[in-house]
Amino acid sequence: MGLADAMRLITRRLEGAFTLLAVDAREPRTVVGARRNSPLVIGLGEGENFLGSDVVAFIEHTRTALELHQDEVVEITPDRVTITDMKGLVVEREPYHVDWDASAAQKGGFSTFMEKEIHDQPTAVADTLRGRIDDRGRLQLDGGIIHETVLNSIDKIIVVACGTAAYAGLVGRYAIEHWCRIPVEVELAHEFRYRDPVVGVRTLVVAISQSGETMDTIMAVRHAQQQGAPVIAIVNTQGSTIAREADAVLYTRAGPEIAVASTKAFLAQITAVYLLGIYLAELRGNKFPDEIESLLEQLDAIPSKIQRVLDTSEPIRELARTMANERTVLFLGRHVGYPVALEGALKLKELAYIHAEGFAAGELKHGPIALVEEGQPVFIVLPSPRGRESLHAKVISNVQEVRARGARTFVIAEEGDTDAANYAEQVFYVPSAPVLMTPLLSVVPLQIFALELAAAKGYDVDQPRNLAKSVTVE
Ligand code: G6P
Repeated sequence: MGLADAMRLITRRLEGAFTLLAVDAREPRTVVGARRNSPLVIGLGEGENFLGSDVVAFIEHTRTALELHQDEVVEITPDRVTITDMKGLVVEREPYHVDWDASAAQKGGFSTFMEKEIHDQPTAVADTLRGRIDDRGRLQLDGGIIHETVLNSIDKIIVVACGTAAYAGLVGRYAIEHWCRIPVEVELAHEFRYRDPVVGVRTLVVAISQSGETMDTIMAVRHAQQQGAPVIAIVNTQGSTIAREADAVLYTRAGPEIAVASTKAFLAQITAVYLLGIYLAELRGNKFPDEIESLLEQLDAIPSKIQRVLDTSEPIRELARTMANERTVLFLGRHVGYPVALEGALKLKELAYIHAEGFAAGELKHGPIALVEEGQPVFIVLPSPRGRESLHAKVISNVQEVRARGARTFVIAEEGDTDAANYAEQVFYVPSAPVLMTPLLSVVPLQIFALELAAAKGYDVDQPRNLAKSVTVE
């Protein structure tokens, strides 16, 4: 019996999710693989072939890839790839090309992928925007179709995602509800299925995932589809499971994200959710064409503003280098600044292993303020003074409240917000932008802060302990 036959025999007896690879010691040039509910992608090279859970694994060697479907067995040698089904019949499959530039998977002069990916962000946003809107102002999806009549009839959107991608969904909620007047829920994918969600043909489910392989998100997509809901995927990795299984896909074009903690994918995800919101607003007649155009112009202006944040990041780096001994850092934000605070705290946990919590600033008085004691660092994402009336003043009073109790206050504020400096220990300015665009800027100093602090502690920022890039188990 050959190794592929043995693999078939074994996998028939297995239950659940797995990716298995096997090599026969007597034939070391042949590798056999099989998968069920877990990813395995084949890379086709010249005189060499690859198996990986994600195209990122072999992107520096080849950009030609082949999907392996559920319950198929693949046999690779340096010059041959054969896919067979459970019966052993050969399956013909067209390879696909991954648009990523191979050099995008190198550090490009930076000392870590994390640093490089933070610097890739202006490009990630610009590329995600590029060529999306046709002459009629309609969004170009990358694959699949959800008919306009279906999109016109939806009465609710549920975003399912995990980790940083879920925070991108939280940001997106403010924009979509405001632009489209459709209620939006954001649900952690692993909680979604188990709460017996109210989902039907009029619910648009938006699955956000960098890898497209997060098992919890895949299961949420399947659950939604079983209830008849149309699913749009916002995914970074071409050919990934979520991209394939969703009814339509909008790729974030962030390029390969190698560092485990997500940065550029986050900004690209917000950009893509915004594009979806703009598209729905246009389609459903919530916005006039000139309003749509103005929103797209606002987005187009973001990459150069992110670049400015990067170019002026030295002060926050300096601060980070002095904080290696902190035990807890708190982050406060309100409205779109709230998910930014959550993401700032997550980055600090992931990279620097420091206890960090993000709170809605309005919640401060309902509990978190009890944590504040002398010297406690608190980051506050200050809303634009031009935004919704009084929000700026309310968050300024939060700054005063924590400062009065001894906190060290570090504020992310908009350029020109002269008030901020009167109340905070230190202010880090980001370029001014329309309110809904601000998360794309205000999160960047927080990413840099976490990176620099972790580096000061000597940690591996690309591969933090205990974390995985794609979490392919439930
Ligand atoms: C892991 C990664 C995070 C990421 C999350 C969701 O936990 O370490 O950086 O945000 O998974 O991943 P996804 O690929 O679905 O965006």
